[in-house]
Amino acid sequence: MLRTHTCGELKKKNVNEEITLAGWVHRWRDHGGVIFIDLRDRYGLTQIKFDPELNKKTHCLAEKLRSEWVIKATGKVVARPGNMINSKLKTGEIEIEVNELEVLSQSKTPPFELEEEKKIEVREELRMKYRYIDIRKSEIKEILMKRHEFISFVRDYLNKKDFIEVETPALTKSTPEGARDFLVPNRLHPGEFYALPQSPQQYKQLLMIGGLDRYYQIAKCFRDEDTRGDRQAEFTQLDIEMSFVKQNDILELTEDMFTKAIKQIFPEKKIMKSPWPRLDYDEVMLKYGIDKPDLRFDLEIKDITKLMKGCDFKVFADAVDKGGVVRAIRAPKAAKFTRKEIDNLISFAQDHGAKGLAYIVVKNENELQSPIVKFLGDKLAGEIVKEMQAKSGDIIFFGADKELVVCEYLSAVRQELGRKLGLIDENLIALAFIINFPLFEPGLQDGHYAPGHHMFTQPQEADIKKLKTEPGKARSYQHDLVANGYEIGGGSIRIHDAKLQQQIFDLIGFDEKKKQEFSHFLRAFQYGVPPHGGIAPGLDRVLMVLMNLNSIRDTMAFPKTGDGRDLAMEAPSEVEEDQLKELGIKLRKV
Ligand code: AMO
Ligand code: AMP
Repeated sequence: MLRTHTCGELKKKNVNEEITLAGWVHRWRDHGGVIFIDLRDRYGLTQIKFDPELNKKTHCLAEKLRSEWVIKATGKVVARPGNMINSKLKTGEIEIEVNELEVLSQSKTPPFELEEEKKIEVREELRMKYRYIDIRKSEIKEILMKRHEFISFVRDYLNKKDFIEVETPALTKSTPEGARDFLVPNRLHPGEFYALPQSPQQYKQLLMIGGLDRYYQIAKCFRDEDTRGDRQAEFTQLDIEMSFVKQNDILELTEDMFTKAIKQIFPEKKIMKSPWPRLDYDEVMLKYGIDKPDLRFDLEIKDITKLMKGCDFKVFADAVDKGGVVRAIRAPKAAKFTRKEIDNLISFAQDHGAKGLAYIVVKNENELQSPIVKFLGDKLAGEIVKEMQAKSGDIIFFGADKELVVCEYLSAVRQELGRKLGLIDENLIALAFIINFPLFEPGLQDGHYAPGHHMFTQPQEADIKKLKTEPGKARSYQHDLVANGYEIGGGSIRIHDAKLQQQIFDLIGFDEKKKQEFSHFLRAFQYGVPPHGGIAPGLDRVLMVLMNLNSIRDTMAFPKTGDGRDLAMEAPSEVEEDQLKELGIKLRKV
């Protein structure tokens, strides 16, 4: 070892010991001839000092040191004078009188400051390009440590429950998770392509058919889709599958594992409700307008379509006549909003697809302020106020349009209101399962149904007969795990019957060619399939939510930019013509 100790461990009890540390020059200062350096490694900071009176040679060398040089320093641990003790630092009681100094490597001036006091907002692209320097910051190290602890915890937990961790291939075949595939050409089969897995879905089901009974994997998934705050092209799932289980078994296991992990690794987080609520998809869509509601606050959307039918406000009456809905949300104590704040909220709703955002300010029981009361009439306006249980000082906001359009923008307005009204407690984590999803997405696409989750999801027993008569009404055994407004996991009980799987393929409009692509999978279904199901929490999203980060990029060691670039590696990049030739690939302009 090049060192005897790390920079985070020396204390008063080590005084007089001769030790060696190695690390980065974090901070350099000259106090009247004596040079003080904060030496940094993963474990912390230690102050080392160079006194010209004690050792002229090392002092001379120390004068040349600059930020981020890597050095090795040997010396004696001494107690700091009482007034110099730094209680904020783990090693604040001591310092090192250096008598031997070796420069292990020099550093150019870093592209951004690492010292806490001097830190200024750094452009994210610059941080990503120099990610290895960014990672030296304590907050990034902390995130990566938490990620490691979380993964270690779930491994431990699942191992103890008889799960086997199995790796599945990254070079595989297109999977039907719904995004675009990343394709990989190969030399041995020019013109044929592997696809990187969007998830190990088919493999994990094949492992159940293989009799492994309980499987998990910390699995890399690849989806060629636009990167967003909670979406990366490459991300990690905690992929789980179990045989001979019902939906409840999967949900109970997930809840127990996460509850224990949060308690141990994020003790400051308060789980809002235990047991976690299990909410019906239809109910959630009605109350929150979205299937991943932020349940840290109550605001609920109410349907007032019936009340508005045939009313004198044309916008609402027309929406109802066209088969749409009118819904409203009560914002408690929002009457304090300025005109400008209300206008901003209207523009916000418009950005989310609204044509407008009508509102009624309830000044008091007898005084309503609103651009629409003159159309609605006092009586009907009064009935709305009653229906919404609005009190003095509240504002009621309205959405009128096709149901899905209203859901989309009122859910966004709800979230914005939660934020603006200070209803969100950042230390809360509101976990819930959403169940009873429709098996298919609403409406037909090119005359066919599209799976709500994926095409291997089992329809609910009572609804199997609906597949013949009204497939759009069938419910499935899909379950989503949501937290604080994010979908942090998804899964289902799977179809284990080849005939039923065929029936679903037909309903989603698979022709013979498409079915052929899944023939490997259907073949396996002829050889004894245990009833099975699973779940796949997205680890990056889980960690983003648990650490209140703004983006899942912050949970990853080497994230990609919005346009899918890895700036630390400068990938993707062009390749040699020879490589393309070998693969039988000729580029064309796109
Ligand atoms: P699903 O497609 O719902 O299900 O994905 C499961 C979870 O993975 C996370 N996730 C993502 N995280 C970051 N970036 C992305 N682009 C991204 N896409 C998905 C989410 C999501 O809830 N095979 C099924 C699981 C199963 O049925 O067991 C699947 O992949 O947190
Ligand atoms: P207008 O008649 O378009 O001037 O709208 C009157 C009020 O209704 C304004 O406050 C609009 O913001 C609101 N509004 C218009 N269209 C809708 C809609 N589809 N849903 C809810 N409010 C709307």
